[in-house]
Amino acid sequence: MRPRALLDRVGRRFDSLQTRLLAGTILIFLVVMTGVIAVVEYRQRAAIIGEVLRRGEVIVRDLAAISSSPLLLYNFTALEQNVDRVRGNTDVVYAVVLDAEGKVAAHSRRPELVGSALTAPLDRAAATTETLLVQESQARGEAVYDFAVPVMIGAQRWGTVRVGLSKRRMEAQIRRTRIELAGLTAVTLLVGGLAAALVARAISRPVRELAAGAEAIARGDLDQRIEAGGFGEIGQLAVVFNHMTAQLLQQRRDLEATHESLRDRFEEVADLKSYTDSILASITSGIVTLDLDGRVATVNPAAELLTGLFAGEIVGRYCTEVFAHTPEVSEILMEALASRAGLGHVSLSLRRRNGTTVPVEMSTAPLRGLEGKDLGVVGVFRDVSQVRELEGQLRRSDRLAALGTFAAGLAHEIKNLLASLRTFTRIIPRKFEDARFRETFMRVVPHELERINGIVEQLLELARPSRLRPAPLTVPGVLDRVLELYANELDAQAIVVTREYARDVPAITADPERLYEAFLNLVNNALAAMAPGGRLTLRTGWHRPGDPMGRGAAGRRVRVEIEDTGSGISPSEAEKVFDPFFTTKAEGTGLGLALTHKIIEDHGGSIGFRSTPGVGTVFTVLLPLAPERTAGERDV
Ligand SMILES: Nc1ncnc2c1ncn2[C@@H]1O[C@H](COP(=O)(O)OP(=O)(O)OP(=O)(O)O)[C@@H](O)[C@H]1O
Ligand SMILES: [Mg+2]
Repeated sequence: MRPRALLDRVGRRFDSLQTRLLAGTILIFLVVMTGVIAVVEYRQRAAIIGEVLRRGEVIVRDLAAISSSPLLLYNFTALEQNVDRVRGNTDVVYAVVLDAEGKVAAHSRRPELVGSALTAPLDRAAATTETLLVQESQARGEAVYDFAVPVMIGAQRWGTVRVGLSKRRMEAQIRRTRIELAGLTAVTLLVGGLAAALVARAISRPVRELAAGAEAIARGDLDQRIEAGGFGEIGQLAVVFNHMTAQLLQQRRDLEATHESLRDRFEEVADLKSYTDSILASITSGIVTLDLDGRVATVNPAAELLTGLFAGEIVGRYCTEVFAHTPEVSEILMEALASRAGLGHVSLSLRRRNGTTVPVEMSTAPLRGLEGKDLGVVGVFRDVSQVRELEGQLRRSDRLAALGTFAAGLAHEIKNLLASLRTFTRIIPRKFEDARFRETFMRVVPHELERINGIVEQLLELARPSRLRPAPLTVPGVLDRVLELYANELDAQAIVVTREYARDVPAITADPERLYEAFLNLVNNALAAMAPGGRLTLRTGWHRPGDPMGRGAAGRRVRVEIEDTGSGISPSEAEKVFDPFFTTKAEGTGLGLALTHKIIEDHGGSIGFRSTPGVGTVFTVLLPLAPERTAGERDV
């Protein structure tokens, strides 16, 4: 791994911009210098050779000139003097004069050859040349230029002169020139290379820094700054780069800050969610939320327990589908969703998945987000089975207690009557002949017996399981029948009657005779409570869902009010007025309200009152559109 890394580094080094720039520059220098040196060397050499050749020509022509008359006169001594003189010139290796036949007439180096003919091809060419002939040869192991020129007097050839010029000095000069040029090349390359290296470094350093910076940025290290040096565009690039990194850094800091705050928010939201989740989980009421499409959004564990449905299988499904087996629930939820309004405490029985039913109290409320944006609805179910059971127990013990009171009342009532009857029967034997006694007997005894019969009738009525004969009727119709019955009495007591019958109330289904009886008792009591000149008000209308006495949308009811301006009911009596035999009247039996209560309950309705002693009393009866419950159910 390590040698490879090293190789990579070396490779990268040679691959770097600086190395390339340097190599390129040196290559160009090398090519240019080689060309220049080749040309210069060629020119220099040609000049040096040309110089030597010109000098040789001058020397040989000079020798020819001074040798023409000695050749004409055959003055060998002069010829010898001439060659010796020429020999004295620098670089001259030899000087030779040949006569007309080509034999040596004078020789500066080898006088013994005088008189002999030279036979070598080069010598022969020289001896026969018509013009200046330059040949290259060797003399005493030394390269020479051999110059030969004929000596002509008129048109006749009188001989030939030859001069051998050594090349040694010329070659030395050429060599020196070459060495100088090579030196120059080396120096130029060195200086040029150095300069190129400096320039390459100056160019590549900022580029390298830029590259390193970019690499660091790619790694995520944004805190980069490059010294703004370098040449023109590179300097500009560095400035732009610094600007870019500064911006990137700033943006990253902004992003990090945003990320940080988002994370905080997220944690807050998560905390809040787990907070609400744990609240929801610990609440014993069942809570179901729906989104705007009517799909189940959340279900808490209590709701799962209550409905027998698991969150996993119902979340995301339509509520109408989920609660198909207990449609009342989905109706109430969908109504809340449609109306964007909540409902309070609707009692209903929730059918569970396994078929059993649980009595629950259900309320709904719209879910609102920020700025009141609708999110859906929440339904809260409270299991009231225990409450109902307790209520049942209470009712049972109430009934036992009431039975006690009832028995006591009954005993008292009947005992009084029986006592008076017994008194009469005891004295019959004694007073039978007394006409006044007989008259009193006939007046009192049947009356008392009638009263006993009446009480027993009413008791039977009270005890009989309800057997309603429902028929369509209008409540105002029944009320008017009651008023008709009391027309004389109302007139006699100058009671003002006000009827406030709402028009939108439809006919209901109920037992007309029983209802008549119930209203009769209420109107009777009202009249009994009022002094002459009082006001009796009869009202009918819809009972609005959400009203304190109501049972919500599921049970729209008709409301009947019977209001008087009578003596009112004191708070201490308020609890007892519905008890059988509770009466404040001398002639009353105290069974009227008990009976009325039973009749209304038999219809599935309810009865209550508001009273202010000294001001008046309002009895309120709520009736369903049709009888709801049977007597059997009521007696649970
Ligand atoms: N409108 C009313 N104003 C004042 N007190 C009332 C009114 N209605 C009922 N009461 C009180 O409630 C008691 C019980 O009434 P209830 O109708 O049951 O019996 P009663 O009227 O006394 O006798 P009866 O059996 O003849 O009707 C009355 O005695 C009276 O004291
Ligand atoms: Mg009464």
